[in-house]
Amino acid sequence: MIMDRHEEIEMIRKMAAVREKAEQQSENEGEPYVLFDHVRKVYHVGEVDIEALADASFSVSKGELAVVVGESGAGKTTLLNILGGMDTLTSGRAVLDGREISGMSARELTKYRRYDIGFVFQFYNLVQNLTALENVSLATQICKDPLDPEQTLRAVGLGDRLYNFPGQLSGGEQQRVAIARALAKNPKLLLCDEPTGALDYVTGKQILQLLQDQARNMGTTVIIITHNKAITPMADRVISVRSGRVQSVEINRHPVPVSKIEW
Ligand SMILES: Nc1ncnc2c1ncn2[C@@H]1O[C@H](COP(=O)(O)OP(=O)(O)OP(=O)(O)O)[C@@H](O)[C@H]1O
Ligand SMILES: [Mg+2]
Repeated sequence: MIMDRHEEIEMIRKMAAVREKAEQQSENEGEPYVLFDHVRKVYHVGEVDIEALADASFSVSKGELAVVVGESGAGKTTLLNILGGMDTLTSGRAVLDGREISGMSARELTKYRRYDIGFVFQFYNLVQNLTALENVSLATQICKDPLDPEQTLRAVGLGDRLYNFPGQLSGGEQQRVAIARALAKNPKLLLCDEPTGALDYVTGKQILQLLQDQARNMGTTVIIITHNKAITPMADRVISVRSGRVQSVEINRHPVPVSKIEW
């Protein structure tokens, strides 16, 4: 085939465009499911600047259970709140499933929190005058593709507590309701800030087992914050935070079942 000069240039241009597109695509596919990229967060309180995150970078793959450890004030909650769309960052990038959270408008953030994120807090934060089932149902009413509230409560072991109010449940049971509420939203990411902080040893262990099973069996991507270094063997990935920086990221090739961990 004989091409004239013009055709040749056109051909080269097209090939370059195809290659560029392929590279772009593989780059997108190659980006981690959860990405924190040189995130800095400064709070301005009166005249004082508080640097909660100085330079935090890490990633988490889809379906992984990650544990974030660090001492009080290290920046763990700040990190989780940014990932959950509840706080904004000062500089850097936060990404979930190819979407940059740090670039979202207030309106987009509302949707993001509603559809993409399940949050579990230390003190459960249940509505006191609604039953367990109503607490979970309420959350699913604002979702796109929720799971069945009753089935989700059964899955966390509360099939016989559906019609109890939070005040009639133990701490561990209330936290199970809170986890069911987060899971029933069918979120892309389950974020847990000290989920066992208010629980005794045995109950705390059961809750961690539930979260580990959720990641293992259901493929949910879970991030748990804790003070307790002893539980890190349960995770696929351990992110250590210190003074607003990610100090280390360790991968556990063989995570240990929570039942085998003592502390
Ligand atoms: N809204 C805020 N305004 C001002 N400073 C804040 C705010 N939130 C957090 N900080 C400060 O940022 C730093 C990190 O706080 P953060 O709550 O992220 O720590 P943490 O690791 O979760 O601690 P803990 O284990 O005690 O919960 C702390 O010095 C804290 O006082
Ligand atoms: Mg905290």
